[in-house]
Amino acid sequence: MKLVLDTANIEKVKEYIEYLPVEGVTTNPSILKKEGGVEPIQHLKRLQEIIGRDKDLHVQVIANDYQGILDDAHRIVENINDRVCVKVPVTNDGLKAIKRLTREGIRITATAIYTDMQALLAAEMGAEFLAPYINRMENLGIDPYETIYWLNGQLERSGLETKILAASFKNVSQVTKTLSAGAEWVTLGEGVVDKLLGHANVQEAVRDFSKDWEDVYGRQIF
Ligand code: G3P
Repeated sequence: MKLVLDTANIEKVKEYIEYLPVEGVTTNPSILKKEGGVEPIQHLKRLQEIIGRDKDLHVQVIANDYQGILDDAHRIVENINDRVCVKVPVTNDGLKAIKRLTREGIRITATAIYTDMQALLAAEMGAEFLAPYINRMENLGIDPYETIYWLNGQLERSGLETKILAASFKNVSQVTKTLSAGAEWVTLGEGVVDKLLGHANVQEAVRDFSKDWEDVYGRQIF
């Protein structure tokens, strides 16, 4: 598993990189909104600094039309850095922009993916990452795991190096099923990250060990 954080919260990112194998941070306008009107360029630069220049920061365009997406992508790269992954929603204009931007050498994360065809077309246009929305697909009655399995086969067959970076999770079970279906990368929000190690039985076991030692030997190990 390659773990990416789906949050723009500086304190949480700082905390997670201490004990989790974090490969990057994904953001979108809704995630940034939660940070309460921060200055976006400085905030995004700070996130990149915290995770390190060798890790991926994903930043989404806000325009929906072809020219607007190109302009947003150029502004993102110019203002943040040239290895940032620009997130582009997979629409007709989005695909057209992905084709152009990848030719310019800009890294692309194709996002807002609900269908297998959206994903495959974005990969063929040169996207580096594909972000299928697992929970949102399930909500619509689309099986995201079948989609990932199928997509993986297609990517292998075409020899494309595009990576599946699954997104939109609401629980850990969705994450394990996504990994079993063949995705290697997942981006998780705080609600799910906090549950990865949060099983009550783990805490209980740790407390029991400490108490048993303490009962016999006191608070120090030796
Ligand atoms: O990374 C995309 C993700 O943020 C969408 O998640 O929770 O809004 O479905 P959600």
